[in-house]
Amino acid sequence: MSLLELRGIKKTYLLGNSVFGKRKAVEANKGISLTLEEGVCLGLVGESGSGKSTLGKIILGLEKPDQGEVWFLGKSLYCLKAKELKELRRNLQVVFQDCYSAVNPRLTIGEIIAEPIRNYERLTSVQEKKKVQELLEIVGLCQEDIHKYPYQLSGGQLQRINIARAIALKPKLIILDEAVSSLDVLVQVQILNLLAQLKEEFQLSYLFISHDLQAVNYIADRLAVMYKGEVIEWLEDMEQLERLKHPVSKKLLSSVLPTYPGIL
Ligand SMILES: Nc1ncnc2c1ncn2[C@@H]1O[C@H](COP(=O)(O)OP(=O)(O)OP(=O)(O)O)[C@@H](O)[C@H]1O
Ligand SMILES: [Mg+2]
Repeated sequence: MSLLELRGIKKTYLLGNSVFGKRKAVEANKGISLTLEEGVCLGLVGESGSGKSTLGKIILGLEKPDQGEVWFLGKSLYCLKAKELKELRRNLQVVFQDCYSAVNPRLTIGEIIAEPIRNYERLTSVQEKKKVQELLEIVGLCQEDIHKYPYQLSGGQLQRINIARAIALKPKLIILDEAVSSLDVLVQVQILNLLAQLKEEFQLSYLFISHDLQAVNYIADRLAVMYKGEVIEWLEDMEQLERLKHPVSKKLLSSVLPTYPGIL
């Protein structure tokens, strides 16, 4: 059984106002089927507007597909009752690109990381503080950062907070949607290294969404290339990058510059 299985996901957005004429249809996902096995990082790459985030949102239940099924841990997500869905959702977390808007600026780092824990576990304040401090250390920050506010942290540090929150419940799958894209290259490498280390330590699976094949190549085990709402190419092994045939994949490949140490 795959950890995640998508069967024929379709999503169309209608743009414009029907009162003033015909509404334009944007087919963001045109029948996507794919699987993700446990412990694997699947890179989902494609140019801007190819439908990657839409697919991520559908997996997270933030958007409803027009057609198709999302199977996660053997259950069809859109057929579950609220209680079952909540239980399953603890195994499915997300880190978005914009680390600042992902957090409530009025909360302390401690409160931000504790949010999912409070939703699912009944801990005393002492137990909760200990857990948050452990998480801060796991993501390479100091225990004292627990009292800080988001504006007191750099983008890289704040993305570590978002990662700490995502792993707090020891989920099975984390969707990383352009999670390193807005960071400086060196910080990107540090965060990618952290993600790779956490994946091993906690047997995590990732759906690593990016327009940047270079970052994907750094962390992914498998690759799906999206173009205009479809998966146009699939690689079982990132060692086989040169086998990519589609002109769109080749274009993404040609943009892979030797910026990161030790790649290509
Ligand atoms: N809420 C929405 N309403 C209308 N159209 C949308 C909506 N969300 C996405 N779209 C459209 O669907 C298409 C796919 O968008 P999506 O955000 O999934 O692409 P993407 O591959 O994640 O792009 P990027 O690399 O820029 O993040 C685009 O044409 C986009 O304009
Ligand atoms: Mg996107």
